Amino acid sequence: MASSLLLQNGRIIDPANDTDQRGDMLILDGRIAPEGAPVPENVQVVDATGCWIVPGLIDMHVHLREPGEEYKEDIVSGTRAAAAGGFTAVACMPNTRPVNDSLAITRLILARAEQGFARVYPVGAVSKGSRGESLAEFGEMKEAGVVAVSDDGVPVRDSRLMRRALEYAGDFGLPVISHSEELSLAGDGSMNEGAVSTRLGLRGVPTAAEAIMVYREIALAEFTGRPVHIAHVSTAMATELIRSAKARGVAVTAETTPHYFTLTDEAVVGYNTNAKMNPPLRSETDRQAIRRGLADGTFDAVATDHAPHSVLEKEVEFDQAANGIIGLETSVPLSLALVRDGVIEPRRFVELLSTNPARILRVRGGSLAPGSPADVTLIDPELTFDYTPESVVSKSRNSPFLGWSLQGRAVLTLVDGRAMFDLTGRAV
Ligand code: DOR
Ligand code: ZN
Repeated sequence: MASSLLLQNGRIIDPANDTDQRGDMLILDGRIAPEGAPVPENVQVVDATGCWIVPGLIDMHVHLREPGEEYKEDIVSGTRAAAAGGFTAVACMPNTRPVNDSLAITRLILARAEQGFARVYPVGAVSKGSRGESLAEFGEMKEAGVVAVSDDGVPVRDSRLMRRALEYAGDFGLPVISHSEELSLAGDGSMNEGAVSTRLGLRGVPTAAEAIMVYREIALAEFTGRPVHIAHVSTAMATELIRSAKARGVAVTAETTPHYFTLTDEAVVGYNTNAKMNPPLRSETDRQAIRRGLADGTFDAVATDHAPHSVLEKEVEFDQAANGIIGLETSVPLSLALVRDGVIEPRRFVELLSTNPARILRVRGGSLAPGSPADVTLIDPELTFDYTPESVVSKSRNSPFLGWSLQGRAVLTLVDGRAMFDLTGRAV
């Protein structure tokens, strides 16, 4: 283990400390050394020329499938994929089997994570079994280590239960993460409702199914004064609702994903089940609105909604296929494309993938302040690579980006100063 490491001549970008400058970063005993600290003689040197040195990336929305569906992913394989994608921490959703609605499952996840390659922050369920009937025990889950609550995968249908969840979770300082979907409107749709669904003869989910529920969450957050976080926003309508709620001071935060700002429902053509997720890929108008929301601060975070599934769930008829795609290993290059396209600045990239997720979840990280644990990601924004089935680190292969040539990737992922992923070959 490298006891000390010197990242030399990189571009240090750390919005939490208002830093964007060329320089060296010294890591001593797993922590970020103060400026001017003496460099030990035996220091391992990593040449960071041309690279960005950023606070470890945090993916606030992933599915690790353990316990219960380890053939799709487990905590070790999922965090290995996270580290390979530049993430030093992930927050994992509770829709495992059984659902994480308890102290026992939270503890199990955290125990398994000790063998993992990234920090794991469990999210507990809002309702017991995520069945939407009665609230889970937020107090005991918080004690065991959950950082938020969510019934992700399904919406909290009952508005009164959602109100109680916001009030009760607020008392424990836990954010509520909303999977916003009005189920009666979504019906049995399997893709976005629009010209493409008509052409393909598939039943559609209208954009209003998302917007209606986003508005309910905003109304409840405004009414209760408690914060709500909107997961995986896919539509122009929801983006506008969040923008205007923020403008009047409602405690709402929101994330979107690389697939919503990169793809449209055209990716479904050919009945491609690797382009099927919930909410579905939308129109070009929606995609452009999401990109504007990333640029103007409407969105706080980019999360992946990494949702591994095996061929058993994906190599079936389109309307039978499971929802979800893997995302941990493609988030950095797809998000860097926003920088190359002039949509966002490098600083904003770091805010969206590190600073803000840490702030929303109130977890450590998201900062390169001297003395803090050395959770650091080194990114080469120019490096190109082919994303192929053979190269995937996750246990699952359900990605619409397979076969793409991607630009920009993490070359070194450090957790507590230890290399969890290393393409430089220098940080061992
Ligand atoms: O596409 C999705 N996959 N959306 C969800 O809400 C759940 C997720 C999963 O668990 O596979
Ligand atoms: Zn999810």
